[in-house]
Amino acid sequence: MKSTSTNVKAAQCFSASSRKQQLKQQLAQSRAATLTLFEGVDHETFCYQAHPEFSPIGWHLGHIGLIEAHWLLERSGRRSPLVPAYRRLFVADGLPKAQRKNLPTFSQICDSLQLIREQVLLYLEEAPLDQQEWLWHWIIQHEAQHAETITWVLHLQRGRSPWLGRFSPISSHQTPLSSTTGPTSDMVLVEAGYFVQGNNSINALDNEKSVHQVHLEAYWIDRYPVTCREYRAFMAAGGYRNSCWWSAEGWAWLQANPVSQPLYWDAAADDHPVCGVSWYEAEAFAHFAGKRLPTEAEWEKAASWNSGGARQQTYPWGEAEPTARHCNHSNNTGQTTPVNHYTAGQGPYGCYDMLGNVWEWTATWFHPYKNFTSYPYAGYSMAYFDNQHRVLKGGSWASRSPVLRSAFRNWYHPGIRQHFAGFRCAQNWNA
Ligand code: AVJ
Ligand code: FE
Repeated sequence: MKSTSTNVKAAQCFSASSRKQQLKQQLAQSRAATLTLFEGVDHETFCYQAHPEFSPIGWHLGHIGLIEAHWLLERSGRRSPLVPAYRRLFVADGLPKAQRKNLPTFSQICDSLQLIREQVLLYLEEAPLDQQEWLWHWIIQHEAQHAETITWVLHLQRGRSPWLGRFSPISSHQTPLSSTTGPTSDMVLVEAGYFVQGNNSINALDNEKSVHQVHLEAYWIDRYPVTCREYRAFMAAGGYRNSCWWSAEGWAWLQANPVSQPLYWDAAADDHPVCGVSWYEAEAFAHFAGKRLPTEAEWEKAASWNSGGARQQTYPWGEAEPTARHCNHSNNTGQTTPVNHYTAGQGPYGCYDMLGNVWEWTATWFHPYKNFTSYPYAGYSMAYFDNQHRVLKGGSWASRSPVLRSAFRNWYHPGIRQHFAGFRCAQNWNA
C-alpha cells in the first residue's frame, strides 16, 4: 500500500542543509504573510476583543512568537527565555481571554518576533534536523492556523473602523473570478471499498497519524460545497423558524443564538459557498435537502483516493503543491469564490473545492486514530477528544499551503460559526 505524500518524501532525500534552506524560506514567507494582515491596523483594532471566546489579533501575533521561542529555542535549543515578560501574556493557558486586551503595541511585538526569529535562524544552522524536522513543520503550521484566526477576527470587526472597509462583503468587490455557467447541484458516486486515511509524512500533525485503511460502503457526495443560492431556498422555506429540520440539540442552540442567516452571508454571492455556519445549521440544511453530512472518512476518500492506482493522493489533484490555479487559498483572493471556478483542483471523483474556499463540517467527532501519540504536547489535540468538537476538512480561502492537504483535520465546537466554514452533503448509495 503506497500511502504517503511523494513530494514530502522526496524532500527527505535532500541533504539536511538544503532542507534547512527550504525551512528558512517557508519561515520567511509565512512571517511576511502574517505581517501583511496587520497593514493599516490601528491599536484599537489590534487589541479589540471582537467576541468573548476569541482573543484580539495582537494577542495571536504575540502568541505566534512565544510558541516559536518556546519550542525551538527553549525546549529544543535549551536557551533561556528571550522575552520572559511575554510568557504570562501570550501562553495559551495563561490569561483569561477577557484579560488579553492590554497588549504591547504592534511595533513592540514585532521587535520581539524579530529578536526571536534571528535566534531561531542561528539555531537552525546547528539544529539536529533528523530528530526535529517535524517540529519545524509544526511551528510553520501553528503560525498558519493563528494567521487564519487573525483573518476572521478582523472580519468580525467589519464596520467598526473605516479602514476595515477592505473587508467588505463580496457584492461590493469587483469579483475577479466568476463562472460562465452556474454550478448544478449534482452529486458524485464513490464506490464501496477500502481507502487509505491519514498522514505519516514529516509534516503530519499528531492527530493525522497513523495512516490506516478504512472500508466504506458506496455513497454519494456533493460535487460542490452548498452554495448561497441553495441555502437561500432553506431560508425562504422558513429553515430558521421551523424546528422540523433541526436536531433537538441544534434547535436548542438556535434558541440560545437566534440567528437567521449565515454569519458571512452575502445575498449577491449566489454561486459562492455558504460561509459562517455552525455545525447545527449545516445539519439542518442537510436534513432539509434530504441528505446528510459526510463522515470525515467519506470526505477524505472523495478528496484523495485514486482508486485506479489504489493510492492516496496528498491533494485532490495529485502531488503538485497548491497554486492559485488549484484552489482559493492563502488569502490570494481575500474572499470566497464561485464553487465551480477551480476546474484544475478537482478531486479524483470530480469534486470541486475540496481544498480552499471554505472549511467543510463533517459528521465526525474529533477522535484520535489508532496508535495516537501526542506531540508536541497533550493539549494540542488530545484535550479536544471530548465528544464536544466536530471535524472540519479542506481549509478556506484564508488557509495557507502548509495546512492545505486532504488529511489535515481541524476541529471546532458545533456551535462555532466565526471561522470560514461551510459544508457539502452526502447520501447513502441506496437512499
Ligand atoms: C485546530 C485551529 C482549532 O487555533 O485553536 C493553535 C490550532 N492549537 N494553537 C486553534 C491551535 C494551538 C487550533 N485549531
Ligand atoms: Fe497556538
